Amino acid sequence: MHRRGFLAAGLATVLVSQRAIAQMKMDDMPGMDMGGHAGHDMGEAPQSTVVLPEGKVLRDLPRLANEAGTPGLFKAKLTAQRASVRFAEGLDTPILGYNGTSPGPLTFANRIPEETSTIHWHGMPVPADQDGNPMDPVATGADRTYSFDLPEGSAGSYWYHPHPHGKTAEQVYRGLAGAFVVKPKIDPIPAEYGDTVLVFTDLRLAADGTMPDNTMTDLMNGRVGDHVLVNGQKNPRLTVPFGTKRRFRLYNATNARFLRLSFDQASMMIIGTDGGLLEAPVAAKEILLSPAERLELIVSFDKPGPDTLYTLDYDRGWMGPGRPVDAGLTLFTVNVSRTPAEPVPPLPDRLRPIAPLGAPAVSRRLVFTETIAMNASGMEMGFLINGAAFDMNRVDIVAKAGQVELWEIVNKADMDHPFHVHGTQFQVVEHERDGKVSKPAYLSSKDTVNVARGETVRLLLRQDRPGPRMYHCHILEHEQLGMMGVVDVQA
Ligand code: C2O
Ligand code: CU
Ligand code: CU
Repeated sequence: MHRRGFLAAGLATVLVSQRAIAQMKMDDMPGMDMGGHAGHDMGEAPQSTVVLPEGKVLRDLPRLANEAGTPGLFKAKLTAQRASVRFAEGLDTPILGYNGTSPGPLTFANRIPEETSTIHWHGMPVPADQDGNPMDPVATGADRTYSFDLPEGSAGSYWYHPHPHGKTAEQVYRGLAGAFVVKPKIDPIPAEYGDTVLVFTDLRLAADGTMPDNTMTDLMNGRVGDHVLVNGQKNPRLTVPFGTKRRFRLYNATNARFLRLSFDQASMMIIGTDGGLLEAPVAAKEILLSPAERLELIVSFDKPGPDTLYTLDYDRGWMGPGRPVDAGLTLFTVNVSRTPAEPVPPLPDRLRPIAPLGAPAVSRRLVFTETIAMNASGMEMGFLINGAAFDMNRVDIVAKAGQVELWEIVNKADMDHPFHVHGTQFQVVEHERDGKVSKPAYLSSKDTVNVARGETVRLLLRQDRPGPRMYHCHILEHEQLGMMGVVDVQA
């Protein structure tokens, strides 16, 4: 069966003139401060003057209603617009939201005064001309209908966010992002486990409740905020009977925060990645979610008492002073009650078959580098792929639809860069670091993979639908500063 999605998005537009993106000069940066932004002094925990309430009951993301009456068809309107929310007591924070909320509803809409935008369907195999590429901007005040069929077998944990040239990072940190869950016709995971989406975002608030613009530190490292939120809430709470098994879909929708996570007590089984289920569950003590990655977990709460999902340290390479503290943030609290849960069916041993992509017909090598140069006008930074910054009018790679390719992503830079490609799911086959080659722990479908500094990641990939596709670092400030290219897929 083909599922059809018709998504009407009224996209509003832009106010800001497009600036040269590939290189930004220090004197262009509002509020630039090489000493790090407020609240991130070296070695200290982030201190924000604004305190956010914690411990509210975890909210389910609002679900976008389906306006279509036909089975297999989804139709809805997503409006991107200015909105206001209360993160902190007594403070209104202007945001950009889809239909007035952030993170957006489970499926999507858009009117941002004076800014172009697009909606990009991160991870989904939609036609290139429906994928919200930067080459396809939607002017402020204009409407755009995105419509696509999803092929059979594409159930997975996708998301959507804007992709306008030069404005993606800002529109996302101001609130434009939502989860798009595609369910299979028959789900091997017991329905009794539920299906809870947890979207992580990263908020920085000034004392007046507004979100400050990016600083030079943000542009170099990617914007890291002061509060990691779950579904827009700080450290929300969930109460479950002991013995509960819950299915969670974790989304890293931050611009640049690497989340290495663990529960105090509960045990985790990884059952899925970006593009759907694994072949079999894999037990994990901790997980790493780099920006834009997703994981599906089954978490077993087998001990009464409070439990937390918290962050561990992860050094992803930080330029300059002001490295934020990664470890010890409590993201989410689960109160496991003394009442035992009703018995539930066990997690199956086999989830679904994944066919290996097979022998590649072509190999390509993409080398990531960072350049920083001082000159008369200040500091110029470049985030490059194969020595070049993104150019919308240049095709970097020509590929053939339906052909398997091997991509070797080589990180010769000082920071980790999460690599993402549009339009398809790939299979990671190998990691190499310091001459040591390792295989991934499991075969999976992914659209984003972290490439640690000094590391090479090899992946197999096949684009089935023709047209131009973007590939880029998903630290959105790096994408904006040039670490992006275009692969033109030919029929
Ligand atoms: Cu989340 Cu170009 O992608
Ligand atoms: Cu994408
Ligand atoms: Cu990067």
